[in-house]
Amino acid sequence: MKALSEPNIKSLYSNLCADMQPYIMFRIAQRVLDLTPELEAKGRAPIKMSIGAPTVMPPEVLRNKMKELIDETGVHTYSVPRGEPFFREAIVTRMKNRFGVVMDPKKHVCSLLGSKEGLAAIFRAVISPEVDPVKKDIILTPDPGYASYVDAIEIAGGHAYSTPLTRENNYLPDLEHTMQELTNQGFNPNNVKALIINYPSNPIGATAPLSYFEEVIRFARQHNILVISDIAYSEMYFEGEEAPHSILEVPGAQDIAIEFHSLSKPYAITGWRLGFAAGNEEAINVLATVKGTMDSGIWKVLQKAGAFALNSPDCAQFIRDMCNVYEDNQNFMKEGFKQLGWPMDELQLPRATFYFWIPIPPRYTSCVDFANDVLEKSGIVLVPGTAFGKHGEGYVRLSLVNPRNELQEVLDRMNKDGFTY
Ligand SMILES: Cc1ncc(COP(=O)(O)O)c(C=O)c1O
Repeated sequence: MKALSEPNIKSLYSNLCADMQPYIMFRIAQRVLDLTPELEAKGRAPIKMSIGAPTVMPPEVLRNKMKELIDETGVHTYSVPRGEPFFREAIVTRMKNRFGVVMDPKKHVCSLLGSKEGLAAIFRAVISPEVDPVKKDIILTPDPGYASYVDAIEIAGGHAYSTPLTRENNYLPDLEHTMQELTNQGFNPNNVKALIINYPSNPIGATAPLSYFEEVIRFARQHNILVISDIAYSEMYFEGEEAPHSILEVPGAQDIAIEFHSLSKPYAITGWRLGFAAGNEEAINVLATVKGTMDSGIWKVLQKAGAFALNSPDCAQFIRDMCNVYEDNQNFMKEGFKQLGWPMDELQLPRATFYFWIPIPPRYTSCVDFANDVLEKSGIVLVPGTAFGKHGEGYVRLSLVNPRNELQEVLDRMNKDGFTY
């Protein structure tokens, strides 16, 4: 009998994922886990300022609702990727009440197992996989932006072309300029299939006026490019600010745009995996079809709880209360970093999200080096700006979701360990 040869599983990998690294946030989590015994031994147990997720319990009414729902009959069987009619009805009610947008629950909305899943599915729906870098389909992505965009576009066989969000452009990139630039670099503008906009933005916390959304829609219609609007942070805005807009408020947007909403951050339920897409009928159709190859819908208990949360005044109050906490935390950290020498008065701190995006001290030339030093010496976990794209160099992101005693401990440790500006 012929001897069996040594198996080589890696040789079987798709060339799209052969060199792929695990998602940056999972890599950071693993590194922290590896360093934990050493950090604990020197009294610097890790404080994770890196988590983009509320750490408080979800609203009590919502937890009670879940407890009730679990005993209902018929809720433990498969759902459908598009979502149960009652969940889609609740989404449509929410879109009408919150944004004044009228939608058809049968045509214009789709449930998601978190918006991350939905974004990955829509990328697959528009990208024809290609290996040759200049022939790849292109999706314009905000830079710095949510790290998952680039990974999910690349695994689908596309190219994520970065549109820089800078202080100079007021974090509102000129998309015609981007098209010109990519053409000059030898890319084919006809390969641009979609563009992503994300306001309020992760990691910067930038917001956009409705007039920018109007510009985006005009641009997209002119070039026949699908607009993918990610408004995972639409409810996370500070008191006195105008509530962030949906791009679907722009007349004609439903002809060319699809928007991704998340219940994760506002209701403090990142682990539940619940979100929805709303917008163009064709885009929703293809999204639901592609999703159907990967999931069989959301647990009906979650859809019922989600339907309740979306239109509950108690849950709305919970969100406003949490945003006040994040604003207080921002003020607290602003003062603390000022004491450490940071030029806080020169920075424009965001009035939305729960992120704190600050420059690294001038003695560092790399945000990765700074984040590594702060982790290894002080046990404070920061996210280097380049985790969000090359335009994130020079910055680190902190989340303001931790309890106040941890925020104080961060400032104390930085002071003791010499991390001044
Ligand atoms: C900008 C942005 N979009 C989408 C998501 C994904 O959220 P979820 O999948 O929990 O809905 C995140 C999570 O951090 C995010 O920051």
